[in-house]
Formats: sequence, structure tokens, C-alpha cells
Amino acid sequence: MNSDERVNKQSYITINGETALYGVIGNPVKHSFSPKMHSLAFQECGINAVYLPFLIQEIQLPQLLDAFTVSGVQGFNITIPFKEKIVPYLDLLSEEAAMLQSVNTVIQTAEGWKGYSTDGNGFIRSLTVADISIKGKRVLLAGAGGAARAIAVSLALAGVSELVIVNRTPKKADNLAELLRSTFPNLRISTILPTDLRSDIVINTTSVGMHDNGCPLPDTVLNHCRQVVDIIYNQPVTPLLKKAAERSIPYMNGIDMLLYQGIEAFEIWTGQKAPVETMRQSLIDSVYSSTAIGHIQKKGS
Ligand code: ATR
Repeated sequence: MNSDERVNKQSYITINGETALYGVIGNPVKHSFSPKMHSLAFQECGINAVYLPFLIQEIQLPQLLDAFTVSGVQGFNITIPFKEKIVPYLDLLSEEAAMLQSVNTVIQTAEGWKGYSTDGNGFIRSLTVADISIKGKRVLLAGAGGAARAIAVSLALAGVSELVIVNRTPKKADNLAELLRSTFPNLRISTILPTDLRSDIVINTTSVGMHDNGCPLPDTVLNHCRQVVDIIYNQPVTPLLKKAAERSIPYMNGIDMLLYQGIEAFEIWTGQKAPVETMRQSLIDSVYSSTAIGHIQKKGS
């Protein structure tokens, strides 16, 4: 049963004078999976709300929040290229968003517009549901872009003991390491890849392997590693994950991170538990839209 059929079995919300408005701003935005996922989630939960895509130009950002206030928008997501650019216009930031100076979820509160960054917590929740524990673990992180920053901060908050961050542009890895050192003095952090690294978890946050056969890290990092996670989600098994599978190392792709960052947003807006399976099925239908690849292998089984 696909996600539309799941929700068709529920009663539809009738749009009326009390319908709440949510959405996603971005440029481009038409490829976003969020309008379908959140609309189905609202329907399944019987919440009288719609979720729409908003194609925004950067020049419109200064007026955007006033326009949303007037239009009664209650919350929205932010995607490329506005995650950092929206920050100066917000009234409040969550702890993670303040550290990262990046926001992907906004809610209208009594004190004004409040911004959150749910990517990192979404990532941690995706590990938790896959029974991957991170407290006290040694993690190798490939990449130092926006996703890496969110993930690194959440890993630090969740209590990893050691983080090795490697990036094509070393300066960006150093900057991320500095940010973490200033907030988490007990976390061991390095930006140099040792020749014989033993890591509990290897995480790829780069785009290497998304549209090519490349691997973001040398094969040697897989010699002594217990778990591989690639946040790429456009294919169930990326080149890095294929190598993990060949070595019988448990692995996970990025679809659940995508799912749980959305679930976190839904819960921030509604205060309700999100309908995980409907949202998950919606993403799987959208991402792998042709034939159903319903089962994403998580643990090398
Ligand atoms: P996101 O928000 O998805 O993290 P991003 O902020 O643009 O996107 O970060 C992309 C990451 O992928 C960066 O770590 C980038 O490395 P640089 O900081 O050196 O740009 C990495 N990346 C992208 N293309 C790469 C490539 N061909 N080889 C190695 N790393 C690459």
C-alpha cells in the first residue's frame, strides 16, 4: 500500500475557515518531498492544515516573515539556499540553531518566529531507531558542509567521545572542529585521518557518490569500523555502502535522516507524535518513485 492509499483510508480534511497553513521556502523548491509528506501526515492525524511550497527570491526575504504573519502561516521549513540567510530575520533560535547559525524549521510562537535545526536531531533519531548507539563512540565524519555541521553538533550533544572530521577543503573541517572545541571541551577532535583509524561509526555527509561512483574516503577506513552511515538517500546503496556490504559491515543510508528531520519539524509544529509510517512511505514513494524499493537495508542483513 503506498502513502496515498494509506491516507485515502482515513477521512480527508475539508479546507475551511480554520485551515492552518504551513510550507517550505526554497529556490528551487519544486523537487521538495516535504509538501506531500507533511500534507499526508496532517491528514492522517486529523489536523486541519495544508503544507505548500513557496518559491522565494533572496530579495524577498526581508519581507517574508511579515507576509507570513499576515497570511496566517504557522510554521515552515527552509531549504537551499536560505538556511543561513533566514537567521537574521528570526526572533528566537533553538540551542542547535544558535550554534549552527542555520535553520530548517520555523514556528510562529507568542514571542515571535522561532528557528530550529532538525537535521542533526533527525540524524540521531535515525540512528536510534536502527539501534545504533553513539554515546562514548569514536566517529569518523566525512565532510564539513551544512549537514556535517548539524550532525557533528548533535553527535557531540549526544555524547560521542571522539570525532575525526575530514573534508576536501581542510579549512572548513578546522572551522567545524573549532566550533565544537569551544562548546564541548571534553570531546576529542581531530581533522587529520590517521593511517590506521579504528572507528565505531563512519559517516559520509559529502555529496560524493550521489551522482557518481566515487567514494568519499579511502577503503582503509573500512578495515576497522563497525558501522557505516551515508546520508545520501537518492539510492538505497551508495558506492560507500556497497563497500561496507562487501565487507559485511552493517550500514544505513540517508532516507531515515530525511524522514526524522521532517518528523521533528511536524512535532515542533503540532506538539503531537508524528505518523512515522505514513511519512516514511511517502518519502520512499517520492524518492524511489518508480518501483517500490520498500525495504531499505539498514544493518547489512
Ligand atoms: P550540505 O548542506 O548537503 O552539507 P554543503 O554544505 O554544500 O551541502 O556541503 C557539501 C560537502 O560535500 C562539503 O563537505 C564538500 O566539501 P568542500 O567543503 O571541500 O566543498 C563535500 N564535497 C562536495 N563535492 C565533493 C567532492 N567532489 N569531493 C570531496 N568532497 C566534496
